Amino acid sequence: MVKSIGPKKIRTAVFISGTGSNLKNLIKFSLKKRSPIEIILIISNNAKAKGLNYSKIYKIKKKIYNYNKIKISETKTLKDLKSNDIKLICLAGFMKILSKDFIRKFKGKILNIHPSLLPKYRGLKTHERVIKNKEKYSGCTVHLVNSKLDSGKIILQKKVKLSKKETPYSLRKKILKHEHILYPRAISKILANL
Ligand code: GRF
Repeated sequence: MVKSIGPKKIRTAVFISGTGSNLKNLIKFSLKKRSPIEIILIISNNAKAKGLNYSKIYKIKKKIYNYNKIKISETKTLKDLKSNDIKLICLAGFMKILSKDFIRKFKGKILNIHPSLLPKYRGLKTHERVIKNKEKYSGCTVHLVNSKLDSGKIILQKKVKLSKKETPYSLRKKILKHEHILYPRAISKILANL
């Protein structure tokens, strides 16, 4: 588990693949005086990820690796994490599955946000499946990452009610707003509980 020592902020890396709204939100959170984290590094498997713009805007180091070659990419990533003294990893829309080996090396130090009420709707196309199944509620979950997909210990969850005319698009938008509240809270929670 991650240790928060005194007023020193936990050196954090955020992994992204796309838009990066959670990344942006976590950066804003990290810049607050009372935030327990400092974002040092952004890792992406996608050179075209929109979220990489936040690296420029906020002057945060970024690294892009071809995660189709998982072994080489993870080795390079682990080197970056070590040389930057990273103590916490936040996955935020990172669309690649990390190997068991990698997860073991950062055991209890990798968080993920997933747009459903886990353990329901693990995996992709969450909102589409929720609507197809006529669920009344969905939501989002922040959990620790273990070697099984979207299955690690749940840190925090937020339940959200679907409207009658909900579409995958509207639901995604609605849940994202809650994700932006939930992720910082979950980070503060795991770091405070030590
Ligand atoms: C979010 O819905 C998150 O829960 C999921 O991927 C999406 C990423 O969105 N894991 P963004 O790139 O942070 O805007």
